[in-house]
Amino acid sequence: MSTTETIDILDVTAIEPRLKHPTIFEWFDQLSGGEAFIIHNDHDPKPLYYQLLGERGNVFKWEYLEQGPELWEVKISKLTPVEEESIGELVAKDFRKAQVFKKYGIDFCCGGKKSITQVCEEKGLDAATIEEELNALTDSPSVSETDFQSWDLSFLADYIVNIHHKYVREAIPALYEYTAKIARVHGGRHPELIEVAKHFTNVANELEAHMPKEERVLFPFIKQVNEAKQKGEKLDRPAFGTLQNPINMMEMEHEAAGTELEAIRTLTHNYALPEDACATYQVAFAKLQEFEDDLFRHIHLENNILFPKALEMEKEVLK
Ligand SMILES: [Fe+2]
Ligand SMILES: [Fe+2]
Repeated sequence: MSTTETIDILDVTAIEPRLKHPTIFEWFDQLSGGEAFIIHNDHDPKPLYYQLLGERGNVFKWEYLEQGPELWEVKISKLTPVEEESIGELVAKDFRKAQVFKKYGIDFCCGGKKSITQVCEEKGLDAATIEEELNALTDSPSVSETDFQSWDLSFLADYIVNIHHKYVREAIPALYEYTAKIARVHGGRHPELIEVAKHFTNVANELEAHMPKEERVLFPFIKQVNEAKQKGEKLDRPAFGTLQNPINMMEMEHEAAGTELEAIRTLTHNYALPEDACATYQVAFAKLQEFEDDLFRHIHLENNILFPKALEMEKEVLK
C-alpha cells in the first residue's frame, strides 16, 4: 500500500509493557485530524480499540492491515471533527429512527457514537437513502414513543433495572435451553447453530456479570448525583474518581455484548429459517430476536440517555 509509506510505524512489541498504552495514546494525541499512524503487535490489539474508544471517544478510524497469526498491523487515523449528530443522539431524540437503523443492520446502541456518514462508509451503505427514510419519519405524525429524555434520572435508572435487567434474567434460561437444543438436534445439517449457542452463552455470561455492577455501583451513584443536584448539595468524589470511569467500562461491555449478537445475526443470515426448521428452531430464532431488540433498547437508554445526562450532572455536584 503506497499510502502507508509516509506513515510512521510504532512497533508495540518493542515497548516496555507498562508504557505500551501510554505511548500509543501519546502518539494518537499528537495526530491532527486526517493524520494516521500504524501499530505493529504480536497479538490482536482489540482491547486498545475499546480503551481508545472509551477514553477519546469516537474520533478515530481503526483499520486492520494485517490480522495475524504472527503480526497484527493496524492503521489508526484521527478523524477530522464533523458537525454531524451521532446515531445515538438521533435515536435519543426520536426513537422511531431506531427502526430505520435496525433495518440496515446499523447498531444504534453500541455503535451509536458514530455518525451516519461514518457507518455508511464502513458498511458500504448509501447514506442518502437512509437520510431519506429518516426524513420521511419526521414528516409523519409522531407515534407515542415514551419520552425517556424527560424522565427523572433516578426513575430512569430504576426503570432500566425493573424492565430490562429483569427481562434479561428471565430470558436467559429459556434461551440457553433453546439454543442448546437446536444445536444438538440440527447442528449436523446446520453447523452454524453450534456457533450460535456459543455466542449466546458468551453474551449471557457477560450480561450476568455486567448488570450487578450497574445495580450495585453505577446506578446508586447516579441516583445520589441526581438527588444532590435536586437539593442543591455537593457530593464528595467517589472511590472510582468520576462517573466517566465506570461508564467507560460499561460501554466497553455493551460493545462486547453487541458484537456477540451481531455474530449471531451474521451466522443466521438475519435469522432466516431454513425449510426444515422445527418449532423449537422457530421459537429460538424469534426469542433471540426479541432478546436483541430488548438489549438494543436497554443499552440505548444507558449509553445515549442515562450516562450522558449523569455525566453532565456530576460536573455540577462534585466538590
Ligand atoms: Fe443495564
Ligand atoms: Fe449496561
